[in-house]
Amino acid sequence: MLSVSHLSKTFPGVRALSDVDFTARAGEVHALVGENGAGKSTLIKVLTGVYRPDAGEVTYDGEPVRFSTPLQAQQAGISTIYQEVNLVPLMSVARNLFLGREPLGRLGLIDFRRMHREADEALRGLGIRVDVRRPLRELGVGAQQMVALARAVAVDARVVIMDEPTSSLEPREVKTLFGVIRMLRERGVAVVYVSHRMDELYEICDTVTVLRDGRVVHTGPLADLDRLRLVAMMLGREIGEVREEGMTKFTGSHDTEAEPILRAEGLTVSHRLSDVSLAVRPGEVVGLGGLLGSGRSETAKAIAGALPTDAGRVVVAGVPVRSGSTAAAIRAGISLLPEDRKAEGIVPGLSVRENIALAALPALSRFGLVDDTRVDRIVETFMKRLRIKAAGPHQKVGELSGGNQQKVLLARWLALHPKVLLLDEPTRGIDVGAKAEVQALIDELADDGLAVLLISSDTEELIEGSDRVVVLKDGVVVRELTGDAVTEDALMRAIAAVPAGGSDD
Ligand SMILES: Nc1ncnc2c1ncn2[C@@H]1O[C@H](COP(=O)(O)OP(=O)(O)OP(=O)(O)O)[C@@H](O)[C@H]1O
Ligand SMILES: [Mg+2]
Repeated sequence: MLSVSHLSKTFPGVRALSDVDFTARAGEVHALVGENGAGKSTLIKVLTGVYRPDAGEVTYDGEPVRFSTPLQAQQAGISTIYQEVNLVPLMSVARNLFLGREPLGRLGLIDFRRMHREADEALRGLGIRVDVRRPLRELGVGAQQMVALARAVAVDARVVIMDEPTSSLEPREVKTLFGVIRMLRERGVAVVYVSHRMDELYEICDTVTVLRDGRVVHTGPLADLDRLRLVAMMLGREIGEVREEGMTKFTGSHDTEAEPILRAEGLTVSHRLSDVSLAVRPGEVVGLGGLLGSGRSETAKAIAGALPTDAGRVVVAGVPVRSGSTAAAIRAGISLLPEDRKAEGIVPGLSVRENIALAALPALSRFGLVDDTRVDRIVETFMKRLRIKAAGPHQKVGELSGGNQQKVLLARWLALHPKVLLLDEPTRGIDVGAKAEVQALIDELADDGLAVLLISSDTEELIEGSDRVVVLKDGVVVRELTGDAVTEDALMRAIAAVPAGGSDD
């Protein structure tokens, strides 16, 4: 249905794609995998007319094509969910769904009533209940992704390309998504699927193409490759090495009697949080569980002073933190890695170095002068430790791959040497190799006495990573799971608020 041959694409200093051959067939779900910066998103952008290739051909339905804009590709029947949700945040949810194909009334004006009704139906079909008149930006990242999905499948596409569609979705939404993918496959649509979540790939994909440093290193049926071999191929390592790395988990031991370093007491934000209390001890990793909209991100933001509270307080190492001020929270030693890196973190026009040093600058300056040597050292350490793939520290962050941007953001908050680290989806979009690296790093920090609050929609990560999990529902703490009680089953029950030992099984 859609194929490329001998495709190459170079950016200044980077060969993003070299001599790539790739074919997406009708009725097949094709996984496109590779490390952060391997070239997956670039390939998709070349296929869909965002970038112009330096060399190579694109064939669509048997005909050579060259799309010069994404809109052209879409009109030809290629529907794409890009890695960075690229909808219009200020426009309503409904408007975003129908962008470019709004239903018109008799006078040629947009028929808002019809648009709202149809938008509502489309989203309900995907299990999403939102007020479609509200601006899109009021939705969480996960819900925004579902809007992008609804938009992609609403048109009669023959090729649907999804670049990390599940990175902020909950298990329930992932299920919905997979239902949609199966339906597309049955209809004979060619689906291209990019994800770093291995279990998802094996659940939904038929074929796999592995990219490494811009080259295709393997293509064939996914069932022929076991997980270990696939990861080894992605990383370009021996299977033995991979096995070791796969073992890395959070293991930090800590003193369960120690005084909590972070105490949140009765945090209340009207309509969003109600009397949320939790405590994290030095060296402890506490997970926050719950569905989309359950108040996990809000809790993290309230603790970090980024969301004004109506009641409650935050205490760090026994000292109350002035509420509603991010500056006060940072001074008290609280770092927050926000969920939405595009809106709340990365400054795309600044360099990798500047982005990493941004938050730490006041601490690295004297009399208004920045200590460049120290900044260089910190930047170098983190670039190496987190394996940030960039042409160098002076490359603009906006030019890095999605996963590498996420690593830069993580480095920024780690460089502050926080006492309390709030991580909202820290490994989203990060490849398997780097994920193990990030987890080992967090582990080390926890061993040093750092308190970590972890939000992750990846259930496995939450369970393996946390010493305790506090479960939220509708802005209220409904359960706390500790030690051996932290299991997938217990977590699912708590999230669904099924009483433990209930009679439903
Ligand atoms: N606009 C750009 N300018 C300069 N370099 C770029 C640009 N876009 C991508 N690159 C570089 O091309 C390479 C491939 O990036 P790409 O985004 O395709 O990776 P990816 O496989 O999608 O990674 P990830 O898993 O992190 O999303 C990276 O080295 C990246 O820095
Ligand atoms: Mg990408």
